[in-house]
Amino acid sequence: MKEKFYITTPIYYPSGNWHLGHCYTTVICDAIARFKRMDGFDVFFLTGTDEHGVKIEKRAAENNTTPKAFVDALVGNIKELWKTLGISYDKFIRTTDDYHVEAVQKIFKKLYDNGDIYKAEYEGMYCTPCESFWTESQLVDGKCPDCGRPVEKAKEESYFFRLSKYQDNLIELYQNNPEFISPKSRMNEMINNFIKPGLQDLCVSRTSFKWGIPVSFDDKHVIYVWIDALTNYITALGYEGKDDSLFKKYWPADLHMVGKEIVRFHTIIWPAILMALGVELPKKVYGHGWLLIGGDKMSKSKGNVVDPFVLSERYGVDAVRYFLLREVPFGSDGVYTNEALLNRTNADLANDLGNLVSRTTAMITQYFGGIIPDGSYREEIDNELVSLCEEALEKVRRDVDNLLIPESLAEIFKLIQRANKYIDETTPWILAKDESKKQRLGTVLYNLAETIRISAVLLSPFMPDTAQRIFDDLQLGKLPDSFDSVKTFGLLESGKPVVKGKALFPRIDVKKELVELEKLAEKHEKKQEKPAESNEEKGLVSIDDFSKIELATAKVLTCEKVEKSDKLLKLTLDVGGKQRTVVSGIAQYYTPEYMAGKTVVIVKNLKPVKLKGILSEGMILCASNGKDVVFVSPEKEIESGSGVN
Ligand code: ME8
Ligand code: MG
Repeated sequence: MKEKFYITTPIYYPSGNWHLGHCYTTVICDAIARFKRMDGFDVFFLTGTDEHGVKIEKRAAENNTTPKAFVDALVGNIKELWKTLGISYDKFIRTTDDYHVEAVQKIFKKLYDNGDIYKAEYEGMYCTPCESFWTESQLVDGKCPDCGRPVEKAKEESYFFRLSKYQDNLIELYQNNPEFISPKSRMNEMINNFIKPGLQDLCVSRTSFKWGIPVSFDDKHVIYVWIDALTNYITALGYEGKDDSLFKKYWPADLHMVGKEIVRFHTIIWPAILMALGVELPKKVYGHGWLLIGGDKMSKSKGNVVDPFVLSERYGVDAVRYFLLREVPFGSDGVYTNEALLNRTNADLANDLGNLVSRTTAMITQYFGGIIPDGSYREEIDNELVSLCEEALEKVRRDVDNLLIPESLAEIFKLIQRANKYIDETTPWILAKDESKKQRLGTVLYNLAETIRISAVLLSPFMPDTAQRIFDDLQLGKLPDSFDSVKTFGLLESGKPVVKGKALFPRIDVKKELVELEKLAEKHEKKQEKPAESNEEKGLVSIDDFSKIELATAKVLTCEKVEKSDKLLKLTLDVGGKQRTVVSGIAQYYTPEYMAGKTVVIVKNLKPVKLKGILSEGMILCASNGKDVVFVSPEKEIESGSGVN
C-alpha cells in the first residue's frame, strides 16, 4: 500500500485582490504535492477559503450585499486563479460549508464540555463607534487603536480557551520534535516571543458582530475566526462529520505550509486545540518568507500589486511558477521586481531549457529526418551526462523532502546545463560533416533527447505545462504519473519521430517589456486612485439607461411545468388585456398551482427567446440570495400592465 502524504495551504481570506505573493504558498504546495504523487505517495492536498469575521461583514455591508453573496463571488475568483496556475488540489474547503460549520460547533462544544473552554466576564475598554472590545494594553494613548476615539470601561461576557494550561506540553512538543516548527529560526522566535513571556488564555468568542459560526449552546456568541479557520484542516477530512474515513486515512497532516506571519497560530494555538481534543498533532509546520516589493509585503492596499493573471498570460504560467519556486531562498524573504522575473525567464527558461530543446529537435530534424537515432554508439565522454541523469531523481527527492525547493529545481537545471555543455563538447555540427561519424552523431543526439526526456519528467511537478510541451515535441504522449522512467538512461525509443515545436519560452526584450509593465501598473494605479470617477467601472447606470427597460405588472392566468425540465415553468400572463407567454426558471421554488392567479413583475421589452422550444416573451423578476428565490409582487392589488419604475 502507498504511504499517505497530507499537505495543506492556509485557507485564504477572500480579499479578491490576489497578488503574486498570495500565489507563493499555493504554488509551492502544488509542486510538493505533485512531486510526492509521482514519487509513489497517496497524496491529499487541501486548500480553501477563510470566510468569516467582522472584516467581511463590513465589506459586504459597504457593497450593499450579504456576507455570503459577497464571499461567493470572491471564491469563484480564487478558484479561477488556482486553475490558471495549475493547482492540483484534492479538496477546496470553504468555512461557510455546512459540514464545516457543524463540525466547528461540535468541536467548540466538546472543548466546553471538557472544561478547556470556559465562560468569563471580561473587563476591558469598549469603543462604541467601532463596537470593539480592547484590553488596556491594546489602547493607543488611551484611545481606540482603530479609530483614535475615546473608549469607555465595559464588561463583556466571553468564552475563553485554556491556552495557558498547554504551555508545558507545547515546550515538550518542540523539544521532542525539533522539526515541528521549520525552519529552525522560527522555532526560536515562537519560544522567545510567545512561550517564555507566558501564554494567556485565549478569548474565543465574539458578541460584537454576527458573521461567524454561532456557539451552538449560546448563539449570542460567534466563534473566534482562528478557531473556525484552523480546524478546517480536520473538518475537511470529515472530523466530527458524517464520514470520517478521510480523517482516519490522512490525519495527521504531514505538512502545514504557511507564511511566517501565521506560524504563531499554527504552532501554538493549533497544537493546543488538538491536545485538548485528544487528536494527534501535525508532523510539521513550515513558515515560509514573504515576497516583497520595494521592501514591503505585497499588498493591494499599498498599490504595489503584481497581478498573477496578467503575468501568466504574458509570459506563460510556468514562468510565474518557476519564478516563485526558484527565485527566493526558501524560508527567507525575497524581493520581487519585474526585472528579476524577466531575467530569470530569459536566462533559465528561454536560454538553458528552451535552447536545449529547440537545438536538439532541430538537429534531429536536420540530420536524421526528424527520427530519433540509435543511441548505442557511446563514448567515454557520455558517462558523466548519463550518470548525472540517473542520479538526478535521488538528489531532487532529497531536496524536496528537506523543503529545499529552489535547490531541487537547481538540481534539474544542472542536467539541462550539462546537456548544453555536452553539445559544445561533442560538436554535432562537425560530426555531421563526416559521413563515417554518422552513428556517433546519432548517439550524441540520442543522448540529448534522452536527457531532455528525463529532465521533463523531473520538471513536471514544478512546471507541468512546459513538461507536457516537451513531451509533445518528443511525441511521447502524456506525461507519466510516476518517476519510474527516469531511473534508467536509455528508455527513449529510437526510430520514433520528433517535431520541432514552437519555442518553449520566446526570448523577452527586457527593456521594452519593463516599459510595458510600467504602463500597465500606472493604468492599474489610476483605477485604484479614482474609483468614483467612472460610473461604468463601478457598475453604475444613468437614469437614461435604466429607462430603456420597461417593467410592468402581469397577472398569471395559467401555469404549467415545462416538459423534460425540472427548472422551468411556462406561464400565460395577462399584461394590460394582452396575453403573452413567459418561461421562467422557478420550478424548484414554486409549484404551478401556487403561481396561478398571482401578480408578478416582468421585463416587458426583453428580446423574446426560445426555451425548450417555447417562445418566452419577457422575464419574471425575482429576488435571490443565492439560496432562495422569491418572485417580486406589488404590495397591493393593481391592474395588470401597470408600469413599474
Ligand atoms: O492568513 N508573500 O490568509 P491570507 C508570500 N486566512 N506569501 C504571502 C504574501 C506575500 N507577499 N501575502 C500573502 C490568512 N501570503 C488566514 C489563514 S489558516 C487556518 C488561516 C500568504 O489570505 C500568507 O503568508 O492572509 C498565507 O500563507 C497565505 O498567503 C494566505 O494568506
Ligand atoms: Mg494575511
